[in-house]
Amino acid sequence: MDSKKRTSKRIAVIPGDGIGREVIPEAVSVIRASGAAVEMTEFDWGADRYLRDQTTVPPEGFAMLGRDFDAILVGAFGDPRVKTNIHAKEILLGMRFKMDLYANVRPVRLLDAALCPLKGVEPKDVDFSVLRENTEGVYTDAGGVLKLGTADEIATQEDINTRKGVERIIRYAFEYCQTQTRLDGSPRSKVLMCDKSNAMTYAGGLWQRAFKEVSAEYPKIAAQHMYVDTLCMQMVRDPRQFDVIVTNNMFGDIITDLAAALQGGLGMAASGNIHPGRTSMFEPVHGSAPPIAGKNVANPLGAILTAAMMLRHLAFEEEADRIEAAVLEAVRQKKTTEDIGGDLGTREAGDWVAGQVSGKGVSS
Ligand code: NAI
Ligand code: MG
Repeated sequence: MDSKKRTSKRIAVIPGDGIGREVIPEAVSVIRASGAAVEMTEFDWGADRYLRDQTTVPPEGFAMLGRDFDAILVGAFGDPRVKTNIHAKEILLGMRFKMDLYANVRPVRLLDAALCPLKGVEPKDVDFSVLRENTEGVYTDAGGVLKLGTADEIATQEDINTRKGVERIIRYAFEYCQTQTRLDGSPRSKVLMCDKSNAMTYAGGLWQRAFKEVSAEYPKIAAQHMYVDTLCMQMVRDPRQFDVIVTNNMFGDIITDLAAALQGGLGMAASGNIHPGRTSMFEPVHGSAPPIAGKNVANPLGAILTAAMMLRHLAFEEEADRIEAAVLEAVRQKKTTEDIGGDLGTREAGDWVAGQVSGKGVSS
C-alpha cells in the first residue's frame, strides 16, 4: 500500500429517506470538493429497500459497518408509506444502540444574527453544545401495555438509567469541555447537567450523584445544574450563558430542536453519534421532512456541517475548517435555500458551497 492509501479513511454513506436523499448527495459533493482522502461507499438502507424486500438492516450489517468503515454519514429515516416506522427504528436506533454510540454531540452555533429569532442576539452569543445520552433513557423500548384498548388500559414506559451509562456521558462532557474551543478560539469552561430530579427522583438521583463525583475530577471546569423546564426558558431568554450541556436521551432530543431554532432552524443543525475509538455515525438533526421531500427546497447546510464535523472527527481538520468557512460565507451572502432567506434550491446551494470549498467557484 502506498502512503496515501494507508491514510485514507472509509466512509459508509446512508442517505435514507425523504430529504436525506437530497441533502446527503450535496454533503458528499462538498467532501469530494474538499479533497479529503476518503473513500465513500453508499448503502440503500431505507424505506424503498424495506418496501422492496422487507430488509431494514441486512444480516451482520452493524458488524460490517464497524469493521469496514471509519465513519458513517447518514441522512434521515421516515416515510409515510411505512406506517410502523420499523425501518427507521431498526436502522437508526439500531446503529445508536447496537454500535453503542453513547454520546450524541449536537453543536449549537449561530452563524449570522439574521438567522436567530431572538432580538439582539449575535453569533458570539449562541455557541454551545448539547451532549445527549444516546443509548438509554425512555428510548430502549422497555415497558408494556395491559388491557389494551379497554377502559382499564395500563401503559408503562421505563426510563432506563445505568450507573455506567450516566457516568460515561457525563465524563464525555467534561472531556469535551476540556478539549473543544468556542468559535472565536477561546476555551470552554462550564458543564451544565440538565435533569428533572425534583420530579424524577430515582433517575435524577443517580444523575446528581454521578455528576457530583465526575465533576470533582475536573476542578478547573465549572459544574452547574438546571432543571429542564428552567433550561428551556433560559435558552430563549438568554442563550449566552450556555457552554456545554449534558443531559439524558429524551431531554436532549427535545432541547436540541429548541436550540436548532436559535441557529436558523432544523436545516442548520449538525450532530455526531460517537463512541470514542469506534466507528461513529454523523447525521443532520432534522428528519426526512416528507412534505418538502423531492422538491429541491431542503436546506443542505445541516448535512454539510455534519460532514465537516465527521471530517474533523477523522482528523481532517483543514478540510473541515474550509467547509465551515464556506458555509458561513454562503449564509452571509444568502447563497442558501429559502428557509434561511436565500433563493437557491438544494442542489444549487450545495454546488455553491462545493465551489467555495474547492476554490473553483460554482461550476454548474
Ligand atoms: P423533520 O425534521 O423531518 O421536519 C420538520 C419540518 O422542519 C419539516 O417539515 C420542514 O418544514 C422543516 N425542515 C426539516 N429539515 C429541513 C431542511 N433541511 N430544510 C428545510 N426545512 C427543514 O421532522 P418531522 O416532520 O417530525 O418528521 C418527519 C419524519 O422524519 C418522520 O417519519 C420522523 O419519524 C422522521 N425523523 C427522523 C429523524 C432521523 O432520521 N434522525 C429525526 C426526526 C424525525
Ligand atoms: Mg428530535
